Amino acid sequence: LPLSDAAIPGDLFARMRRDNLARWPTGARVDVEEAAAFHKTLPAHKRLPAVLRRAVAEGRCLTQPRGGFATLAMQTELMRTLDRDGMADIVPTTTDSYTRNEQFVQAQRGVEESERLGRSMLNGFPLVNYGVDACRALIAGIEKPAIVLSGTAMPKLTAEIGYAGGYTGYLGSGIAYTVSYTKETTIEEGIRNYQYVDRLAALYQEHGVELHRRQPGFLTGTIIPPSIAIMTCVLDLLLAARQGVRHYGLELGQCLHLVQDAAAIRACRELCQEYLARFGYTDVFTPVTSLHWMGAWPADEAQAAALIGYGGTLAAVGGASSVTTKSTHEAIGIPTPQANAEGLRTTRMAIHVSYGVRLDGLPAHEFEVDLIKREVRAVVDRVLEMGDGDVAVGTVRAFAAGVMDIPWSPNRQVKSRVLPARDADGCIRILDAGDMPIPRDVMEIHEEKLRRRAERERVPFDHQLAVGSVYELSEPLSRLMPA
Ligand code: 5AD
Repeated sequence: LPLSDAAIPGDLFARMRRDNLARWPTGARVDVEEAAAFHKTLPAHKRLPAVLRRAVAEGRCLTQPRGGFATLAMQTELMRTLDRDGMADIVPTTTDSYTRNEQFVQAQRGVEESERLGRSMLNGFPLVNYGVDACRALIAGIEKPAIVLSGTAMPKLTAEIGYAGGYTGYLGSGIAYTVSYTKETTIEEGIRNYQYVDRLAALYQEHGVELHRRQPGFLTGTIIPPSIAIMTCVLDLLLAARQGVRHYGLELGQCLHLVQDAAAIRACRELCQEYLARFGYTDVFTPVTSLHWMGAWPADEAQAAALIGYGGTLAAVGGASSVTTKSTHEAIGIPTPQANAEGLRTTRMAIHVSYGVRLDGLPAHEFEVDLIKREVRAVVDRVLEMGDGDVAVGTVRAFAAGVMDIPWSPNRQVKSRVLPARDADGCIRILDAGDMPIPRDVMEIHEEKLRRRAERERVPFDHQLAVGSVYELSEPLSRLMPA
């Protein structure tokens, strides 16, 4: 079939699923009817869609870490620690890099090595190798809902096994992961792969089971202007809604600016519903998740602790429905379960002390919300025009033309002409819009704020501003500007 945003027809989807599940032996165990029956036995407190709806109704900000180890025993222990010691509201399973790249033979070797050495030799849990029943055992070991953190543009087997295994959420999307995690995968391929995952979630819905799907924000390890992240949220969301998804979360990496982050969260929530309504969808639930700083982290644990606590405050004040946490080990590697649990508790405390503080109505906040919305609408409207109303086609064409663009993307299909930098006040601005149709009056605002930084620091107004903004927060305290 030519690329389109239309829902995959049932008979075609059945054939696609058969071929997909035949790619690895554990695929044979997947049976949606049996899995739907299993999901119906889960209590509400272990179902992510229900837990998130309740958090939104109560105005609470949930905590969720990341985490994955190589063996079932290690993963069981990790998830229990995050649940109990970390008091995580949502318990994760991050897959390892071999699994993300569908190299299941190598993943198996990683499991064996890890068992031999008694420590995790993989950077996540090889969920496909272990299969459905191992996932059910993990789910049985915790008293919270669990989510698969897939980290991949090739999600079709981890989604099948994860959902059948009792995970009630799956993180990943066709645009965001393809442009931030892959070099050669085409945007069309990434979109098609996630249309499969979204259609799968809709299939469970047809069997009476609501599942959570989630867009992964941006993981390029650099800075992303909120508007560019939100454009991607809107497009990934519309693609999911077209496949029948009705419970779709959006993630936003923190800028580390109290006002801009709060504005981004609100603008994201409102723009998502605005575009859904334009497509006639009034029943899609779209909670927003705030991500602890996704750029380079300081190695000093004391400095890292500040980013963790502040990150909890940013999420709470911004009104995010959940926050995805990091640990003081972030600069060094994968955290121990204990450090991971501490990151959760630090964040939870910060949320607690920030409770009730909101910025809505403050002029600076309203200014940022308005600015973000003008940027997002200008670009997303053009993308939709370019596809004659088809989101998938418009997205592919827009990336080819640079109308949709991502800073520092590793993907060959992305122009990456757009350049962001931090301004004199600490907000992330657009230094150069490349070929993105950001309105001229909006760009003048960005430029004026960036020129002020260049003047203050006596550096030229050029791309060096953008490069410096990538690393500055990982510097030791002695090299940071005085407060
Ligand atoms: N355990 C814990 N955190 C992980 N991350 C990635 N893999 C793991 C893992 N196995 C986190 C890191 C990384 C982010 C994208 O996800 O914090 O920066």
